[in-house]
Amino acid sequence: MEKNGGGDMLAVEKKWSKKSRDQVLVVGVSEDDEGLPEELEKGSKSMLTALNRQWTDGTIATKKAKVTNMTVLDEGEPLQQLIFVGLGLRSSLTLAGLKEAFGTAVKAVHEHKAARVGVLLDTFRDKADSFGDEVVTQALSDAVLTAPYRFDIYKTKKEEQQNFTYTIYVQSGESEAVRAGIHQGRAFGQGVNLARTLVNLPANDLPPVALAEEAEAIANRHEKISAEILDINELRSLGMHALLAVNRGSEQPAQMIILRYQGEETWEHPLALVGKGITFDSGGYSIKPGHGMKTMKSDMGGAGAVLGAFEAIGHMQPRKNVMAIIPATENLINGSAMKPGDVLQTFDGQTIEVNNTDAEGRLILADGVAYARHLGADKIVDISTLTGACVVALGDVMTGALSNDDALYEVFEKSAEEIGEAVWRFPTHPRYEEMVRSSDVADLNNSPGREAGTITAGLFIGAFIHETPWIHLDVAGTAYVERETPLGPKGGTGVMVRTLATLARQSNF
Ligand code: BES
Ligand code: ZN
Ligand code: ZN
Repeated sequence: MEKNGGGDMLAVEKKWSKKSRDQVLVVGVSEDDEGLPEELEKGSKSMLTALNRQWTDGTIATKKAKVTNMTVLDEGEPLQQLIFVGLGLRSSLTLAGLKEAFGTAVKAVHEHKAARVGVLLDTFRDKADSFGDEVVTQALSDAVLTAPYRFDIYKTKKEEQQNFTYTIYVQSGESEAVRAGIHQGRAFGQGVNLARTLVNLPANDLPPVALAEEAEAIANRHEKISAEILDINELRSLGMHALLAVNRGSEQPAQMIILRYQGEETWEHPLALVGKGITFDSGGYSIKPGHGMKTMKSDMGGAGAVLGAFEAIGHMQPRKNVMAIIPATENLINGSAMKPGDVLQTFDGQTIEVNNTDAEGRLILADGVAYARHLGADKIVDISTLTGACVVALGDVMTGALSNDDALYEVFEKSAEEIGEAVWRFPTHPRYEEMVRSSDVADLNNSPGREAGTITAGLFIGAFIHETPWIHLDVAGTAYVERETPLGPKGGTGVMVRTLATLARQSNF
């Protein structure tokens, strides 16, 4: 039996029977099932008769994400409560669908308030049984942590906390794969929930220095992770004037946060994850309207995803060297703030004309990716809440991507697919690159206009990447959402934590 990092316990058993006496039993059912799952035949006769009747008359809903609660009376025995979770068609059950089903199930369990929960894991398989024990267990273990997540640290009256004991019934018993799945799901869950909390924390409680402290706390919690924070004086002597320019309007000092995870014998060829850490984006002198500014505490969603991925990596301990680089500052307004028309020097040496102070993410990331290269990054993934244009293009459904390297992108895309996160790659074209270089006075222009806004923002950062294999991720629409999903509430989502952590686990690049 293992604690899951929340307070819940996960145990594994081979077979469920009526003697198991879990207070509530979770069962997956689908539209293409001919009858109730075989596993239930271990139940009492009277329970089976009752359930079969409900199945035949269609009371047990099989449609995707539908939940049916049921209590069966057994003579002389305690009540058996059941939660049936609809999977839609087993023949078209995807990993994302499976994760949502577990999310729905865990939420239903929490509403039930029954402390002992059984899950018939084998009733959650797709028709071809293509996921395997590890993936199915991982999806459940992840959902146990992420589905009930609430951001309630500021509520003086909190919902009552209850711990649950889940018993996973799986035919293969407590195999290596099942154990690995539980551990992997928990690593993802803890990383995702950390990223969510960082995004949800208001800007008054998460200035750049506090974000740096969160990074240091991750390093303290995990073997093989170390932290290094560059303060404002070091940034000055290094010449990080793009980051420093954005920071000029703020009372809070900028920070460059560096984490190193050494998964190999020697510190060579690290993969760098570079996250935008704008702890609040007012737009600066190119000020945002009120409704656009309201959620801008979430403008460190890229940094949150990188830190969440490091939390997960710390638990997973993969055999790869990984580096986190997070330029962090507020984007505010005062008498010394950056102004439209300013020309900036960068760490890389190229100059930038600031056409719009609200296009600040690409400025700090220019220094961020250049510093990653300086530190010897072999490959770079940058991630940011970068453009409103990406929200227009993809909504809160898919994360936008760009890349200069098909082979690296393929590995990345497989990682996203493997873990059920949706990504869409935008095209590049020499003409877009010309747009980024359309300044009359400097090398680059930080705001060439509304057209192709997500692509030009990405290629602006690309100008500091040079030949390094690179992936650019825009999570403006996906890091912070206005609707509840099966796997979490409104607000910070922790999007891309699982994908980045999975990428760090791949050995084929
Ligand atoms: N942080 C914003 C992007 C954003 C918008 C994130 C909506 C999440 C939701 C970014 O700094 C920004 O303001 N970008 C500008 C760029 C423009 C001035 C070229 C934008 O998208 O409007
Ligand atoms: Zn902005
Ligand atoms: Zn921003």
